[in-house]
Amino acid sequence: MNIITVKDAQEGGQKAFNIFKEALAADAKVFGLATGSTPITLYNALTASDLDFSQKISINLDEYVGLAPDNPQSYHYFMQQHLFNQKPFKTSYVPNGLAKDADAETQRYDDIIAANPIDLQILGIGRNGHIGFNEPGSPLNGKTHKVPLTQSTIDANARFFDNEEDVPRFAYSMGIGSIMTAKHILLMAYGENKADAIQKMVEGPVTNHVPASALQNHNHVTVIVDEAAASKLS
Ligand code: F6R
Repeated sequence: MNIITVKDAQEGGQKAFNIFKEALAADAKVFGLATGSTPITLYNALTASDLDFSQKISINLDEYVGLAPDNPQSYHYFMQQHLFNQKPFKTSYVPNGLAKDADAETQRYDDIIAANPIDLQILGIGRNGHIGFNEPGSPLNGKTHKVPLTQSTIDANARFFDNEEDVPRFAYSMGIGSIMTAKHILLMAYGENKADAIQKMVEGPVTNHVPASALQNHNHVTVIVDEAAASKLS
C-alpha cells in the first residue's frame, strides 16, 4: 500500500483529485465511487475543475434498499448533489433501491461490474474497518449482495426520517471481492476516529473482522490519510 499523509481533508481531496487526473490521462474509463463525508473534498475539486467525464462510466458502491433515487436520503441523490449534476458521466450506475427482486438486482450489478472493469475505485472506511456496506464478518471474496443494516446504523439514520419505520433496514453493496477487481483502489480517511481502522487495515492481519484489511492482498492501493487518521501507524 502506498500511504500518503496529508494535513487535512482539503489537501487530501486535492491529492485524490491529482490521482483522478492521472487516471484520466492514462485513459481510465470506469470510476468506482463512494458516498459519505470522506470523498466530498475530492468531489468538490472535481466539480470545480475542467475535467470531462461525459464519455466515462461511474459505478457506485452501495444504495439503501427501499429508497427512490429522488429521496434525499438515498445515495443516488447524494451523488447527484455532490457530483453528477455538475459533472455528468456518460452512464452512472447506482444499485436500484426500488428493485423488486433482490437476487436479480445483485446479479444485474455484478454483470455491470464484469462488463465495465473498474479502473479507479474510491473508498472511505468505517470506524470498524468496513468498506462499502461490508461490515465485519463479511466474506472477503463476496460479490454484490443485500445486507441487513446494523441496529446502530438504523438508529443513526432515524433522525433523517419522519417515521422510524421509514428507515431502511437493508442496503445493496458491492462485495469485497467486487471491490478487489478494481485496477487501482484509492482509500481516504480523515480524523482520529478512523485511526484504529487504518492501523488494523495496514498493519493488522488480513481478516474478515476488519474488511478493509483485504486490501493488503491488492497490488495497487493508495491510501490518503490525514495526520490524525495516521496517528496509530507504527
Ligand atoms: C459509502 C460507503 C461507506 C463509507 C464509510 C465512511 O458509499 O460505502 O463505506 O465510505 O462508512 O463514511 P464517511 O466517509 O462518512 O466517514
